[in-house]
Amino acid sequence: MTITKVFAPAKVNLTLHVTGQRKDGYHLLDSLVMFADVGDRVTVMSAPKPLFEVTGPRATGVPTDDTNLVVRAAALFDIPAHIILSKYLPASAGIGGGSSDAAATILALSEITGDTCLPEGVTDLGADVRVCLMRQAARMRGIGEDVIPCPGLPPLFAVLANPGIEVPTPAVFKALANKANPPMPKRLPHGIKTREFIDWLASQRNDLEPPALSTAPVIADVLQALASLPEARLARMSGSGATCFALFETDKAAKGAAQLLSDQQPAWWIEPARLS
Ligand code: C5P
Repeated sequence: MTITKVFAPAKVNLTLHVTGQRKDGYHLLDSLVMFADVGDRVTVMSAPKPLFEVTGPRATGVPTDDTNLVVRAAALFDIPAHIILSKYLPASAGIGGGSSDAAATILALSEITGDTCLPEGVTDLGADVRVCLMRQAARMRGIGEDVIPCPGLPPLFAVLANPGIEVPTPAVFKALANKANPPMPKRLPHGIKTREFIDWLASQRNDLEPPALSTAPVIADVLQALASLPEARLARMSGSGATCFALFETDKAAKGAAQLLSDQQPAWWIEPARLS
């Protein structure tokens, strides 16, 4: 029996500019994403018939039927498999948990089958699945299908915080008043130091913050709490929320701040993370 284990990292939208809307309702984005060293784990074993289980500290409420992107990703392959998803990331949280789980499933099954091409139907799984397959710093444009790797950016040290509410992405896009905002500059920073990179990020935006805050006002408390942490240089929301992040110049500062915030807000999901 072949057993393949793949890490499914959290995706963090460092910027998220909404630049337009397509006729089918989907929004055009320009977003710089990085991946965290915090994530779910997907274990895939070849088996006589398909089986899917969810375990881990955040398994409660995670569907095990074909509404789960892991099951839909596995269905793109011809072989049956026993899949165990160990869930550590909060769901519907703006950090691409479901998309990253689906991408990890595709990577594991491709390794087992020896397929070198992606199966058809990957894009239909969700807008973030393509970037999650790449799992490195990247610029996403279009609705997520246009992914360009961004090498030459320094790693960042972050605190991720989620107040424990699920925010439905469609509701946030619906509440967005201005759907045609400026994109990021044509050329993104390259070969710069952490401090300059954070300064540059501070000059950019997440256009989904205002509509997410109107949908879930607690996000304002999360941003405020993150911005107030010692040595925090920038606080912003990821994706359509509710997870927000604060950026720090050192690993030590991020870890100390995560501990402090965990003491202040024991009910929130809080993790220090290295982003790259
Ligand atoms: O692709 P995903 O399942 O993540 O998208 C969930 C919903 O969010 C879509 O059905 C759509 O309403 C909205 N969305 C959007 N524009 C995007 C991505 C998502 O309007 N680029």
